[in-house]
Amino acid sequence: MRLETERLLIRPLKRTDCSDMYEYTSDFEVANRAGWVSHLTIKQTKNFVRGLRQKKETHGIILKTENKLIGTISLYKENFRRNHFTLELGYSLNRHYWGQGIIPEACQRVISYCFEETICEVIMALCEPANTNSIQVLEKCGFKEEGLLRDFTTNPLKQRISVKAYSLLKKEYERKELPWQKL
Ligand SMILES: CC(C)(COP(=O)(O)OP(=O)(O)OC[C@H]1O[C@@H](n2cnc3c(N)ncnc32)[C@H](O)[C@@H]1OP(=O)(O)O)[C@@H](O)C(=O)NCCC(=O)NCCS
Repeated sequence: MRLETERLLIRPLKRTDCSDMYEYTSDFEVANRAGWVSHLTIKQTKNFVRGLRQKKETHGIILKTENKLIGTISLYKENFRRNHFTLELGYSLNRHYWGQGIIPEACQRVISYCFEETICEVIMALCEPANTNSIQVLEKCGFKEEGLLRDFTTNPLKQRISVKAYSLLKKEYERKELPWQKL
């Protein structure tokens, strides 16, 4: 997958992305919210990138003006629904670039890709209730809350946590019901 927006390029991860990525994989605030243990050495990020490159679910977000990797966006195959092909969306962003609408811009392009170029009918997103930044992103993109999945997973500290489930349906996209389609 290779996608472009006004400010961003979304492309497969490269080995050379490690040093840009280490800027925020080593940031506790980002890592904890994204669900991984913050990295203490760049070697950890190198291994992390190697694993992500093998799975091919996660793409880099490149800021075109700086030609720099500033975040990632992921699409995971999920079995949340019986007869619909569902993808789960995930993302992370270097804290230096928060608050500029970068992840909504990337997500909206990826949403169009999913519904126009794949067989996906539902996009899910899971988010801790306290992660209000991420909830803002999901709402800007048009996701609707489905409910709380109690003790659904464990956090990097191995504590059980509940997460809010959000979804976006292909028919909502096709009817142009999403907030960013009405601008
Ligand atoms: C969630 C995240 C991706 C948001 O990306 P973003 O490109 O900054 O998104 P936005 O610019 O739309 O900002 C979203 C909200 O974050 C908050 N925010 C913005 N800048 C902020 C800053 N510098 N510090 C704290 N919060 C900030 C605002 O509430 C904003 O909502 P608003 O625009 O309605 O006021 C980013 O905060 C992040 O990387 N978080 C850590 C990883 C993570 O949470 N991943 C998702 C797991 S479910």
